[in-house]
Parts: sequence; structure tokens; C-alpha cells
Amino acid sequence: MHVFGLLGNPVGHSLSPPMHEAAYDALDLEARYVTFEPENDRATLERALEGADALGIAGLNVTIPFKQDVCAIVDADPLATRIGAVNTVDFSGEQPTGHNTDAIGAIRALRDHDVTLEGATAVVVGAGGAGRAIAFGLADEGARVTIANRTVSKATALADAVPGATGGGLESLPEVLAEADLLVNATSVGMESDETPVPADALHGDLAVMDAVYRPLETRLLRDAAAVGATTVDGAWMLLYQGVEALERWTGRDAPVDVMNDALRARL
Ligand code: ATR
Repeated sequence: MHVFGLLGNPVGHSLSPPMHEAAYDALDLEARYVTFEPENDRATLERALEGADALGIAGLNVTIPFKQDVCAIVDADPLATRIGAVNTVDFSGEQPTGHNTDAIGAIRALRDHDVTLEGATAVVVGAGGAGRAIAFGLADEGARVTIANRTVSKATALADAVPGATGGGLESLPEVLAEADLLVNATSVGMESDETPVPADALHGDLAVMDAVYRPLETRLLRDAAAVGATTVDGAWMLLYQGVEALERWTGRDAPVDVMNDALRARL
């Protein structure tokens, strides 16, 4: 029996357990995916990771508020180190290793929708954890990245770290979007209320628009984007592919993507 899990606080409403367990069934893997909610302090987190390793837990996903701290505790790979956050820990080696599948998850979600990334002009709204991962991921694929954030200093600091990127405030969006091929919302705007961080009249039909928000699936941003004929990619795709990448790393098997997608969407 393999045990995988999610470390976060809170994790009660996570969709990862049903998504991963649907995959284990399809792959005939004897495994469970369990959620863990340790207290949010560094010493407890270190003990939790040591304990997981000692107990033979095969892999852990990591979510808010632990991604940054876990990056500093485990042996993080180069991409996770650049992003400064780990969302996947692999216990199969001598030492636990840390990885970030949010970046490649976003890239696979876009590729799945035939969005061209190499040479594309991409605008990332948001410079928090999700924005960092997506900005690095897009730059690695050869996109020219512009970061727009409410707090401008965070956008410029991130732009300084991402190769070839520029950063600015939200007021720059109409101008930068006019020339853009791709827009990704990596803010939490749209989650609690029917709001969008992007003015509807800044969108156009040549854009692909991806939203990291998945509750609700149909955000105002995606409705506005669909209304002008843009390609839309909802937040469940990113959630799906970060899980697909984690599962493939842990098990060495090809993930049953359709099964995981169905399990996820049945609950959204
Ligand atoms: P996550 O890990 O999900 O990215 P985060 O690190 O807290 O979460 O980042 C949240 C992002 O949403 C930030 O870019 C934040 O902007 P600030 O850096 O200015 O805080 C953005 N955000 C949250 N609420 C917002 C709002 N009402 N308007 C615009 N941006 C908002």
C-alpha cells in the first residue's frame, strides 16, 4: 500500500484526494491519498516532513501556507528553487526532494488547448505564489512575459527574476493586452465575488485567456473572454495537470488524465 497526501492548512475542501484516488483505481495501484493539516509553524512542519519520510509516505503535495517553507527544508530542484515554492515532495530517494508542478501544470493546460507559447507575448496578472510559478514556466517555454500586479513593487521584483520579463501595475493592462497573445489570471480575484482583475474592453478575440481560479469554473474574466471570441482555459485544467505531473513523478506511470479530469469536474 502506497500512501500519498496533501500538506496544507486548511485542506478540508481539497479536490486532490478524489482526483488522485480515481487515478489509482484506473491504474490498479494499491494506494491512498490523505490530507494532513499540521499547525503553521516551521518546527512542526520540519517534524511533519521527517515523520512522513520515516513512515514511508511516498509523496506529498504541499499547499498554502507551507509551499515556501517546504522549499527551504527539502532538497528543492532548480525550478522550484527559482520559484521559491515546492508543491510536490518525493520521498523515494535518500533525501526528500522538492518540485513545483504548478509551473509545468499551467504549461500543460495551455498546450492541451493548442496555445502556442514559444515566441508568444504573455501577460500574467498577479505576482503571488501562482503568478511566480506561471511566469517562470512561460518564460522557460520561450514566451515574452509581462507581469501586472496590484502591488507594483511585487510585479517589478518578479520581473527582475524572470528572464526577459517586464512588470507594472494593473493600469498597464489595456496597453499590454492590445499586443498580447496570452493572458493568465493568477490573482484570487473572481473567487469570492463575481469580479475580474481585467477590464472587459481590454480583451480581444486573438487572446487565449486562462484563469487560475477554479471556484467558480466560469469566472467573470472567462465569460468576458468568451464574449469577445477569445480561447478560454478554466482553472480546473491547471489543477488537473499539476496533479498529473505529481502522480507521474511519484509513480513513474502515465497518468490517466481523462479519469482524473472527470473526477475533478464531477466535484466542481
Ligand atoms: P497565490 O499563492 O494564490 O498566488 P498570494 O500569494 O496571496 O496567493 O497572491 C495573491 C495575488 O492576488 C497577488 O498578486 C495579489 O496582489 P497583491 O500582490 O497586490 O496583494 C492578488 N490580489 C488579491 N486580491 C486582489 C484584488 N482585490 N485586486 C487585485 N489583485 C488582488
